[in-house]
Amino acid sequence: MKTALITGITGQDGSFLAEFLLGKGYEVHGTIRRSSVDYRERIAHLEGKPHFHLHYADLGDSMSIMQVVSKVRPDEIYNLAAQSHVQVSFDSPEFTADVDATGVLRVLEAVRLCGLAKTCRIYQASTSELYGKVEEVPQNENTPFHPYSPYAVAKLYGYWIVKEYREAYDMFCCSGILFNHESERRGETFVTRKITLAAARIAQGKQEKLYLGNLSSLRDWGYAKDYVECMWLILQHKTPEDFVIATGVQHSVREFCYLAFKHVGIELEFKGEGEDEKGVCVSGPDGLIGKTLVEVSPDFYRPTDVVNLWGDPTKAKAELGWDPAKTSFEQLVKIMVDADMAKVAVEKAGDQIRTNLAEYLEKGIVK
Ligand code: NAP
Ligand code: GDD
Repeated sequence: MKTALITGITGQDGSFLAEFLLGKGYEVHGTIRRSSVDYRERIAHLEGKPHFHLHYADLGDSMSIMQVVSKVRPDEIYNLAAQSHVQVSFDSPEFTADVDATGVLRVLEAVRLCGLAKTCRIYQASTSELYGKVEEVPQNENTPFHPYSPYAVAKLYGYWIVKEYREAYDMFCCSGILFNHESERRGETFVTRKITLAAARIAQGKQEKLYLGNLSSLRDWGYAKDYVECMWLILQHKTPEDFVIATGVQHSVREFCYLAFKHVGIELEFKGEGEDEKGVCVSGPDGLIGKTLVEVSPDFYRPTDVVNLWGDPTKAKAELGWDPAKTSFEQLVKIMVDADMAKVAVEKAGDQIRTNLAEYLEKGIVK
């Protein structure tokens, strides 16, 4: 039985990867952080399973990482922990650098100092944000980097320090240069999830309007569940190498929005340009027809924005046998919207129960 350590196990990818590795028969260890709210939504269903273990550690704290690595002595480490929000990195650049850049160094050094350099394989969660202000489309493993946010600059350090440890110490450490991947577990402030939740809330009368930033931004969006398999495949490869993981298909934020709303029965027409662009309901429920449901707000613009990400997964396909077309863009949108429609329906039922209960209490029907 192999032992894996996942940093960032509470995140979108960490939770899918933990499920995947448990399914492969791994002993899975993950790092968590102390929080005032102890409910770990994405991994709650795994807690208590015999081969699933959690440890407190923070990528900003070398001692905590040393402690967990020396205790677990993993065969594989998946370093997924990061301040992963690009916009937030403009507000917290120093924290982002500490966790997303120096944090990677801390993991590599912990492995080396624990005497595991020759036995432990390390996956580093690298990103298509490295291509930033892109110098070539589509982007592959040889495309020059041009990071365009504090997040991307920090991740670039992570990429290079992994390469350095591979060459200097002959360690099996690799970067997966992953393009955007989404799911029903995606954080609610990333654009896709923000859209699918809003579409579900608007369709069920719980929200009036959705405000977005740059609608013309282009992304290569895949399904997170398919991408975690690739993380594992990268570590099973005969040699330590870096891989681009992407679908090879590109769409705009506007297209994502159109499809998500269409899936809940609302057809949008986009009119106007730039800050004046609006998404108007042209067909759907009576009360919504003619209403502006999507508007642009400059609050969601970034000081520098990456607008043209499009990955070329040829190497991953050829060398890892990975299928980039497993889940289509349309299927991805449907998975996310269906999950959010169900979530909002449950929220609404909860609201109704609370309203009824308040009424019964007031009338003295229940005490
Ligand atoms: P996510 O949902 O934001 O999860 C991030 C994880 O990192 C969470 O478990 C979080 O813990 C943890 N974390 C944050 N700061 C930490 C710290 N100082 N010490 C320890 N743990 C910390 O991100 P994701 O979408 O799963 O992405 C996983 C990784 O892939 C990230 O490194 C991200 O930058 C990278 N990536 C993601 C994509 C994508 O499209 N999803 C694409 C390319 C690369 P809490 O729950 O306690 O906050
Ligand atoms: N978040 C957000 N919110 N983005 C918006 C909005 C909005 O209201 N409106 C437009 N966008 C645009 C952003 O300007 C960006 O160009 C694009 O939508 C995607 O934004 P995000 O969903 O926040 O993702 P990201 O591409 O910046 O970063 C994600 O993918 C990277 C890989 O390329 C994150 O998961 C990173 O951790 C990851 O490295």
